[in-house]
Amino acid sequence: MNGYILAIDQGTTSSRAIVFDKNRKVAGKSQQEFTQIYPQSGWVEHDPEEIWRSVLSTCKVAIENAKIQAGDVAAIGITNQRETVVVWDKGTGKPIHNAIVWQDRRTAALCQKLKKQGLEKKFTKKTGLLLDPYFSGTKLSWILDKVPGARKRAANGELLFGTVDSFLIWRLTGGKVHATDATNASRTLIFNIATNDWDDELLDILRIPRAMLPQVKDCAADYGAAEADIFGASIPILGVAGDQHAATIGQACFEPGMFKSTYGTGCFAVLNTGSDMVLSKNRLLTTIAYRLNGKTTYALEGSIFIAGAAVQWLRDGLKIIGSAPETGKLADQADPSQDVYLVPAFVGLGAPHWDAEARGAIYGLTRNSGPAEFARAALESVAYQTRDLLDAMRKDWKSSGTKTVLRVDGGMVASDWTMQRLADILDAPVDRPTILETTALGAAWLAGSKAGIWPSRREFSKTWERDIRFTPKMDDKTRKAKIAGWRTAVKRTLTS
Ligand code: G3P
Repeated sequence: MNGYILAIDQGTTSSRAIVFDKNRKVAGKSQQEFTQIYPQSGWVEHDPEEIWRSVLSTCKVAIENAKIQAGDVAAIGITNQRETVVVWDKGTGKPIHNAIVWQDRRTAALCQKLKKQGLEKKFTKKTGLLLDPYFSGTKLSWILDKVPGARKRAANGELLFGTVDSFLIWRLTGGKVHATDATNASRTLIFNIATNDWDDELLDILRIPRAMLPQVKDCAADYGAAEADIFGASIPILGVAGDQHAATIGQACFEPGMFKSTYGTGCFAVLNTGSDMVLSKNRLLTTIAYRLNGKTTYALEGSIFIAGAAVQWLRDGLKIIGSAPETGKLADQADPSQDVYLVPAFVGLGAPHWDAEARGAIYGLTRNSGPAEFARAALESVAYQTRDLLDAMRKDWKSSGTKTVLRVDGGMVASDWTMQRLADILDAPVDRPTILETTALGAAWLAGSKAGIWPSRREFSKTWERDIRFTPKMDDKTRKAKIAGWRTAVKRTLTS
């Protein structure tokens, strides 16, 4: 037996490992949650050692579950939570601080300061991003400021920086390879996505020494090999992409105009714009969709911080549902005459508003409002937020046209009710694929195609299969009224 691909999907709340066989079927998998550390309000950290242990154990269990040996695995593909920052000692391999997670808002004041200096345009032009604490650059600068001696040691080449992919590659290769891929680099706020290189001017502004940065490679490339003593055989690492980029690949959105949205904790919508590096006029992000054979494909991205997390709030906060799948049924019982809106700005609002200070709000409550109306408002908030992104994308990139089809994935898409409402609010078809493991599949395709055992991009695209298409059913008048109500609710929630 040979020719298996191991995909490592290191996410925000859990690490997963999936073994795919030659026919791209899941042969074995494993998942492990790890600790979320909240040192202060708005701060979120992970212990990189715990991440590392969870990755090791899920990989081992996935290989075991697939009933194969490590030697049967032809290649590893890595995909990961993006923007999260790890800094470690080059000599000992020990992190010098907990990982600062993408959701962490501790650098809001620094971002404000840089904005006041009029620097946002410069950052956006070069990186496609905005001055928001979401991205890695200001977090890295924070660690270098707060850990005694760190900046000097970094300049001396004693400390290394990486997003989680980079940290895992370094650990898997026994410290031989310090690299990342272009998609992860494109989320750091210090990578110039036009020149495809770290940007010295931005590094100067954030006072980050180049010596600590990883080498940036194509998504399908030679990233060294996992050492034999880790899994029992040396396994080449041949694919790397940030999770939303891997999902774009797994959804086979290879043509300009193709559009995917992943509904996990948050929601990340990515529109392939081909070789056009479209700089948004509507507060979307410009990002590298993927870089293959030295050729960069760009995308517009809308990042929403709360999607599935709103359902978790119904379950764990309000305790009005026992489990997520109950939400659709409950929402279906909501009184159609009540216009209840939830603006889930629990950690501020992402695209296209970028209001770090906004907090969640609910509008339109009456004496008759109850769990059903809350459930509907939570699910609908996901649809409205996606609509805001789609509208912004259409304004930014005329070629996106009106014939958009949205390919969806992530835990929330199991809810037919939510997907139907999404199609209704978008006024566009929503396609749910048969394979929902799109993120891991994308990472596996990168590694498998590089290893020469998975099909080319074109052939792989043909294997994408639709499970069900949700077509809009809502009448125009209702849709327009609902969207107008949502926009008013958002306006009332924004702080500026
Ligand atoms: O940008 C953050 C994103 O990459 C995190 O995704 O799926 O780990 O919540 P996820």
